[in-house]
Amino acid sequence: MTTSSAPGKIILFGEHAVVYGRPALAVPVTQVQATATVSENSRGGIRVEAPNINLSSDLSRLAPDHPLAAVINSVFSALSISSPSDCTVYIQSTIPVAAGLWSGAAVSVAVIRALSEFLGQPLPNERVSTLAYEAEKFHHGTPSGIDNTVITYARPVYFIKSKPIEIFSVGKPFTLVIGDTGIPAPTKESVSDVRRLWETDKTRWGKVFDEIEKIVHEAKKKIESGEWKGIGSLMDQNHALLQELTVSSVELDRLVAAGRRSGALGAKLSGGGRGGNMIALVEKENAPAVAEAFRSAGAKRTIVTQVG
Ligand code: MEV
Repeated sequence: MTTSSAPGKIILFGEHAVVYGRPALAVPVTQVQATATVSENSRGGIRVEAPNINLSSDLSRLAPDHPLAAVINSVFSALSISSPSDCTVYIQSTIPVAAGLWSGAAVSVAVIRALSEFLGQPLPNERVSTLAYEAEKFHHGTPSGIDNTVITYARPVYFIKSKPIEIFSVGKPFTLVIGDTGIPAPTKESVSDVRRLWETDKTRWGKVFDEIEKIVHEAKKKIESGEWKGIGSLMDQNHALLQELTVSSVELDRLVAAGRRSGALGAKLSGGGRGGNMIALVEKENAPAVAEAFRSAGAKRTIVTQVG
């Protein structure tokens, strides 16, 4: 039997613009995990069990473009295995489904690692990340690759599409409160809406992406030099630009405002937007008050996490 876990993630700065070649910063969130366990199946065949999404099926009965079937089959073909051994792939996740924190990528990474190990050919990180990226395309068409990268390496990443991975350092640890709107919001939809918007006026929206890029550079400098308090106002600015890109929502804006009112140093949506999650930068001792303010403003779940 083999087991592998992969963390959740948050985008600190640069979501959406990253799809258009601008940089973004993302960090793993280890309080939530996707776990895959692969064991022998004495009854024969390949079973896929994912109780979180009420799935219990033979692999052969899943549509080939089902995200789990796709990722499992991609491992077999990456390992050139034409008649795989009988096994059960059991997947569990504490990462909210279809929210900014949810990552099909975390499930993919956990499955790829556990399955390749079970088959006696554990894959190196680079291959794991590439296969998870291929699977991400099922989730949202034109992914930048940031999600599979930060989750595979489980380190803070400064990411530019199609460039080698760069890890960034955190000069002084800082605390974030994550607020989950509880509203499912497939990244695929917000990403394709932004694409439609961009296509209406590439110059105008390209400038918005450029502004986001400046914010990412400034934020990276501040995080690396330990001036973490300075990233609060950058979060506010990044959120305003994401609002312009139409990917915020009433619920996200309500949580962002609640965060700021309760003493957060800055707040923004994180990930695809529309629903899903947002983050607020806080002084450590203020985290419980901000989390409480999020819950009063409608958050279904809050997580306090330390970066660095
Ligand atoms: C999703 O976590 C981040 C987006 O920028 C999409 C992507 O980069 O693939 C919205």
